[in-house]
Amino acid sequence: MKEELELQALKEEALKSIEDESADMEEVRVRFLGKKGKLTSILRNMGSLSPEERPRIGQIANEVRASIEKMIQTRNETLKAKAMELRLKAEKIDVTMPGKAPAPGHLHPLARVQREMEDIFIGMGFSIAEGPDVELDYYNFQALNIPEGHPARDTQDTFYISDKVLLRSQTSPVQVRVMEKQKPPIRIISPGRVYRSDALDATHSPLFHQMEGLVVDKGITMGDLKGMLETFAKRMFGDSTRIRFRPHHFPFTEPSAEVDVSCFVCGGCGCRVCKNEGWIEILGAGMVHPFVLSNCGIDPEEYSGFAFGMGIERVAMTRYGIDDIRLFTENDVRFLNQF
Ligand code: PHE
Repeated sequence: MKEELELQALKEEALKSIEDESADMEEVRVRFLGKKGKLTSILRNMGSLSPEERPRIGQIANEVRASIEKMIQTRNETLKAKAMELRLKAEKIDVTMPGKAPAPGHLHPLARVQREMEDIFIGMGFSIAEGPDVELDYYNFQALNIPEGHPARDTQDTFYISDKVLLRSQTSPVQVRVMEKQKPPIRIISPGRVYRSDALDATHSPLFHQMEGLVVDKGITMGDLKGMLETFAKRMFGDSTRIRFRPHHFPFTEPSAEVDVSCFVCGGCGCRVCKNEGWIEILGAGMVHPFVLSNCGIDPEEYSGFAFGMGIERVAMTRYGIDDIRLFTENDVRFLNQF
């Protein structure tokens, strides 16, 4: 019988296809058993068979379909198991391998120096006050005895948001904000960012950090300022450190001074770090000007005070012998890892 032979041949052909390593089982199924597949096209000719033969050939056709389906299923299961085995092999985890330790970061050298400075002052009874980076002209200049047109504005040229609003060029406005709110005794430090429209070079940056200090009480003298700064310098730079006051002028302190510390590298003989000076300038200071006290509602007849402002970068550079301020913001790990 022609159909019977065709069905047998079809079964064998299908078996070969299924055993083919590279065959796609879905494609094989469609090709042999699909609506337009080979089995269907054989069955389409069933009409030409005699009524006696039809059920027999029909039965054979069903058996062929069932066995092809079974072979495909078996093959699929084998493939799945193989894939799983490969995956398990590939994803094997050796739980006895040593772990990868996460590289812990550390504080930025500036943050570290700032915290050390804070600790020293907190140890002397200071508390920390904060003020805004975006400041009013009034607090940054006017209340500090720097009216419009005052030459001191030129040395602290900054970035303006509007005529009356600017990025603070110093932390001194925090002095005013604190004195407006708090009656003496006052003993605060105020670390933070300050801005100046300076071009970036090894010693200047348009953004840097200062730490302001302010003490107001009855009977505060320049001797208190000196003693306190000397204690700070010795704790920060070492016990043999000396300090030096040079007369200076700030509109908001009177008298005013710039303060140097003896070079911690050479001890004052002169070296590369202090540029052969033996001294390194780290801050400006003075006795709070009576005008500033009365601007803040504090009676200068009753109270006196001192203030200072130090550059945190300057302290860090002095402390670690860093010769370029740009290193702090370049984020080069070869630099940062040294701290
Ligand atoms: N604000 C001054 C500056 O930036 C420093 C200073 C602070 C001087 C407090 C005296 C008193 O140069």
